[in-house]
Amino acid sequence: MRPRRLRRTPALRRMVAETHVVPSSLVLPVFIREGLAEPHPISSMPGVVQHSRDSLKRAVAEAAELGLGGVMLFGIPEHKDATGSGALDPAGVLNLAITDVVAEVGDQLTVMSDLCLDEFTDHGHCGLLTPDGEVDNDQTLAAYAEMALAQAAAGVDMVGPSGMMDGQVAVVRKALDDAGHSHVSVLAYSAKYASAFFGPFREAVDSSLVGDRRTYQQDPANALEGVREVLLDVAEGADLVMVKPALPYLDVVRRVRDAVDVPVAAYNVSGEYAMLEAAAANGWIDREAAILETLTSIRRAGADVILTYWASEAARLLRA
Ligand code: PBG
Repeated sequence: MRPRRLRRTPALRRMVAETHVVPSSLVLPVFIREGLAEPHPISSMPGVVQHSRDSLKRAVAEAAELGLGGVMLFGIPEHKDATGSGALDPAGVLNLAITDVVAEVGDQLTVMSDLCLDEFTDHGHCGLLTPDGEVDNDQTLAAYAEMALAQAAAGVDMVGPSGMMDGQVAVVRKALDDAGHSHVSVLAYSAKYASAFFGPFREAVDSSLVGDRRTYQQDPANALEGVREVLLDVAEGADLVMVKPALPYLDVVRRVRDAVDVPVAAYNVSGEYAMLEAAAANGWIDREAAILETLTSIRRAGADVILTYWASEAARLLRA
């Protein structure tokens, strides 16, 4: 055998490629900040911005034109408070953005929204706090149920509960069904790790987290626990499950892909983006090749869907 024979020409390599990155499997996460007249750059994520209402419409129109699978919306309210009340307000920044995006591209893209309180709370935690500062699982679930209803009323296709509260998928599914929104699907952030790679996201959503998230997000040491979380979410009614971050957890992506028969997503997070961009800016790495290799490796590990800040750019590169 001479394996090199199948690597001899570009056409041969293309023909026998086992893995393909296609625009329709990519989801672009976008940030919208209340009260912005112009898009505002995020310094730790060069090329990514907090959108104004207008620039958001342009970004999602471009995403649709490029044939992406969807967009995931994150809102940054002008005023944060202890309970994250902006998340439940029908006129809150995220709910208005959902309506805008559905009007703009709802017939071409899957419109998804982050379902979590951390962008809306002044303490930066994903849930409500008890008087002694613990994240209160079951009180938070009630808030998530209301948040899901606000997002469904705004017209969202798919909600993404990302707070790692126990039972969140079941509560969101039931709230949606009871209110006549059984068509709204749930992308469960199932195996979400307490990761240093979320660092730049904190700047992206203007979050000043007090403490850390290790009592609710998973320990990076645990892969079996990731599978357990995924199985629970599938049993609770998740339509898709997600592993997050992606690159440091490709083994978890593979285990999850082998364990369930629902689509598996992986989130190529802010810190993964920032690392590669920083190396490329220094001339230490071939940026475009590294982006495509990154996305290919996440697909190869078993992800059907990838959330990535490079989604639109990757679609352009794939087209070229
Ligand atoms: C929670 C949420 C986070 C991210 C997506 N949803 C932050 C966190 O859990 O700490 C991180 C995404 C990224 O880093 O790109 N609302």
